Amino acid sequence: MSLYRRWIGGSGDVVAGYTSSIADDAEIAAEVVEVMKAHVKHLIEAGAVPRADGEEILAVLGQLNPADLIRQGYEDVHEALEDYLIKRLGPKGGWVGLGRSRNDHVAAAIRLRLLKHIDAAMRAAEEVKCAAAERALEYADCVMPSFTHFQPAQPITYGHYLMALYELMADFADALSAVRGIVDKSPLGSGPAGGTAVPLNRRRLAELAGFGEVAVNTLYASSSRFFAGLAASAVASMLAELSRFVDDFVAWSSPLIGYLQLPDEHVSTSSIMPHKRNPVTLEVLRARISEALADALALLAVQEKIGYGYSLDLQEATRHLWRVFKTAEEGLAVLADVVKRARFNCEKAYGDAARYPTTSSDAAERMALGGTPFRDAYFKVAEAVKAGRAELPDPREAVKRPVSGSPDPQEVRRAAEEGLRSCGGRRAS
Ligand code: ARG
Repeated sequence: MSLYRRWIGGSGDVVAGYTSSIADDAEIAAEVVEVMKAHVKHLIEAGAVPRADGEEILAVLGQLNPADLIRQGYEDVHEALEDYLIKRLGPKGGWVGLGRSRNDHVAAAIRLRLLKHIDAAMRAAEEVKCAAAERALEYADCVMPSFTHFQPAQPITYGHYLMALYELMADFADALSAVRGIVDKSPLGSGPAGGTAVPLNRRRLAELAGFGEVAVNTLYASSSRFFAGLAASAVASMLAELSRFVDDFVAWSSPLIGYLQLPDEHVSTSSIMPHKRNPVTLEVLRARISEALADALALLAVQEKIGYGYSLDLQEATRHLWRVFKTAEEGLAVLADVVKRARFNCEKAYGDAARYPTTSSDAAERMALGGTPFRDAYFKVAEAVKAGRAELPDPREAVKRPVSGSPDPQEVRRAAEEGLRSCGGRRAS
C-alpha cells in the first residue's frame, strides 16, 4: 500500500491505478530529487531538523538515480521518494515531509523542468533562424511569386520568404525569454496553500533550488499554473504559424508547383507507385502541430474550472505541457534540416512570377508616382491586364522596392548577413 494511503485504509488498487501520476512523473523525477535536496539543505540551515539526520538524507539523495523512483504502487514520485528515504533510513527519512507539501514541490519541479524545455526550444528556434538566414543569403536574388489567397501576388524572392521565417523565430525567442522570467520563480516554502509553520527563508530556498525569483503569495505559488499555460500558449502560437510554412513546403514540393526539391531523407516513396516522393517528415510535423495545439488547449481547459487552490486536476494538465514542448523541439529540428538542405528551383519560380501579372501593383504605383491618381492608374492597369496588353515591370526589377524589409536582394542580403553574425561562422554554401 502507498505511504500516505496507509492511514485512510482501503486497498486502493482501482483508485491508485486511476489517479497515480507515476508514469507521467518520469519527466520531472530528476527535478523532484533536486528540489528535495534544496529543501533538506535549507531545513538543516534553518535548524528545523537534526543536522546529522539531514546530512544522512542528503547523502542518500546524492546516490539516488531518480529514474528508480518511477515504480508502480505510488500515488506519485513525491510519495515514492519519501517512501524510499524512510525505507533506507528509517523514521529519520520522514523529516523531509516537514515544511513542504507535494503541491509546492511539484510546482517547483515542473517549473525547473520547463526552464530546461524553454532553453531547448530556444536553441531549436535558433537552428531554424540560422538555417533560414544562411539560405536567404544564397537565394537573395531568387525571384518567386508571393501568394495571397493562394493566388500569385507580388513577386518576392525565396530569400525574402526565408527571412519571414527568420523573423518569426526571432519573435518567438523574444516571447519565450519573457515567459522564462515568469517560469523562473520558486514556489518552495508555500506549503499546500497557506505556507508553513517552519521559519523557512523562501529567498534562500529559491536560490538553493536554482530559481532566480520567488513566486510570492503562497496560494498563488502552490496553485498557479499560469506559467505553464503561458509557455504552452507561446509555443502553440509559434507552431500554428510555423505550420503555414510547412504547408507551403509541402505544396511547393509537389511537381504541380515544383519549386522545392526536398532532401532525399525527408521523402519516402510508395509501395506501389515508384515515382512518388512523398514529403513525409513535413506531413508528420503538420499533424503533430495540430496535436500540440490540442494539447495546449487541454492544458488550459483542465485548469479553468477548478477553484483557486490545488486540486488533482492540475496533475492531469501537466503531461500536455511536455507534449507541446516535445513537438516544438523535434519539429523545429526537422524544419531546420529541411530549410538547410532543400534546393529551390529559381527558374521555375521566376517563370511563374513572370507568367502571371504579379507586378500589376508595381505598374500602378509607378504610374501614380508619376502623377496619375492611384485609383485611375489602378483601373488603367486593370484594363490592360484584362485585355492581355499590359506592359508590366519585370519581376526581377520590381522586387527592388525601396522600403525596409522589402524583397530587394540587397536588403535581404543585408538582413541575412546581420542575422548570420550570431550564428557562429556559418556561411551560404
Ligand atoms: N502528483 C501531483 C501532481 O503531479 C502532485 C501531488 C499533489 N497531490 C495532492 N494530493 N495534493 O500534480
